[in-house]
Amino acid sequence: MNNSLDLAPEAFADLLNKSSELVLNKFSDLEGQKAFHNHPQKEIERWFDEPLPREGMDDHELLDLVKEKVLDTATNNLGPYMYAYVMAGGSQMSIIADKLTSTINQNVGKWHLAPAMSEIEKRVIQWAGEMMNYDQNAKGVLVSGGSAANLTGLTVARNVFFEKNEIRKKGLFGLKPFTAYASSEVHSCLDKSMDELGIGTDHLRKIPVNEDFTINLDALEEAIKADLENGFTPFCIIGSAGTVNTGAIDDLEALADLAKKYQLWFHIDGAYGALASSLDSIKDHYKGIELADSLAVDFHKWMYQSFEAGCLLVKDWETLKRTYFKKASYLDASLEDSDRLNFNEHYFQLSRSGKALKIWMSIKSYGIERIKQMIQKDIDLTRYLAKLVVASEDFELKSKSELGVVCFRYVKDLHSEDEINSFNKRLIPALEEDGRVFITGTTLNEQFVIRACLINHRMHEGTVDHLVKVIREVAAGLIENKSVKEDAETNSA
Ligand SMILES: Cc1ncc(COP(=O)(O)O)c(C=O)c1O
Repeated sequence: MNNSLDLAPEAFADLLNKSSELVLNKFSDLEGQKAFHNHPQKEIERWFDEPLPREGMDDHELLDLVKEKVLDTATNNLGPYMYAYVMAGGSQMSIIADKLTSTINQNVGKWHLAPAMSEIEKRVIQWAGEMMNYDQNAKGVLVSGGSAANLTGLTVARNVFFEKNEIRKKGLFGLKPFTAYASSEVHSCLDKSMDELGIGTDHLRKIPVNEDFTINLDALEEAIKADLENGFTPFCIIGSAGTVNTGAIDDLEALADLAKKYQLWFHIDGAYGALASSLDSIKDHYKGIELADSLAVDFHKWMYQSFEAGCLLVKDWETLKRTYFKKASYLDASLEDSDRLNFNEHYFQLSRSGKALKIWMSIKSYGIERIKQMIQKDIDLTRYLAKLVVASEDFELKSKSELGVVCFRYVKDLHSEDEINSFNKRLIPALEEDGRVFITGTTLNEQFVIRACLINHRMHEGTVDHLVKVIREVAAGLIENKSVKEDAETNSA
């Protein structure tokens, strides 16, 4: 018997072929598959409730089990009926690349552990900077996603801004509280970042927004001045290049001006929207992106990559090194070729997966123009959905944007604000139970709204029509249930 975990080559080949069949199976009839399977939580918990396996099972049976319990029940992000959160459908090239990446199992912490992967990561970062009109020579680091990218951006901002106070060594003790500024629509991960960095969420000043959900610049400047007068230390302005709620893009140029005026760090959360700055049709909305000191981006959003793939971009390597470098004797790179870039010296992680290959292979395979066409298609389909909403008698449009998010509510035969709010709140779990589409809601101006995010290159007008049809049918079912219940109550009274 072979004394390793490896199979004989033929057995391994059989399993690889079988796993490829499973992949192909997921792609058969994507439009015929449900978006959500609605198995009760307890049932799914039971499937996996077993003692720690002492002996291995047959691998073919294991793959059959995975197909039945994991693949066939998966929330269908691939398919074109996923409208919730910001859930891109992935791409076939990133599936292939992820398999190859785990085959070579590189650790992209040190250059000599992953020579090609390290260079590919640098290239992907530079391409992203160029694509988004941020910087032709952008530097940065791939991270798990938008939350990690924003945390990285604020860490860099804090460590570089307060370098004179030696905060990496001494901590924040004894310093006046630092304050950062973002719109009230900023993503919640920035609160988490403030919390993790020891600055505290109270010190993320949430600035009111204008009617289009972009940050109000006058209110922002007032807040900075008030903090300066009251003994706080403003250090960072955070702009949103596409908010999660509505896709609003702040006036980035004006934010950069304010940051310059008050000598603050300028960070942009472009996790959702920054990649759309590559489109000629809307690039003017992103004027000022090039002035950011740091920019967070997600490739598992509008680059259609499989999870996880986020990125923080900055202007030079030194910024990251000043934030993260830590000498350790067993990692000492001083004897190595100085052109080698060691990512562990420029980021928090030491061991790092090779996230760059899937992005690199996708860009090379599809070409950036084709990817841009897909982003534009998502945006055009969002406008199509907004038009359907406006033209209908049963829906009311609550927000639109230049990007792929639209918010609306069901209003037919509902009269008061309370009635509309509570009906739309009930609609979301009813839609989940139905499972044909997957969509969630949010709150805008204290009104509960249905929020559709279109970020899947497999969508088309027909799938958007399907969304509207399903919402109508589920709403009608809820109304019918309600009147049946009311009739029953009246009869029994
Ligand atoms: C604007 C924005 N920022 C940050 C995030 C967090 O990104 P992630 O979910 O990749 O951590 C999101 C996610 O939707 C987002 O839309």
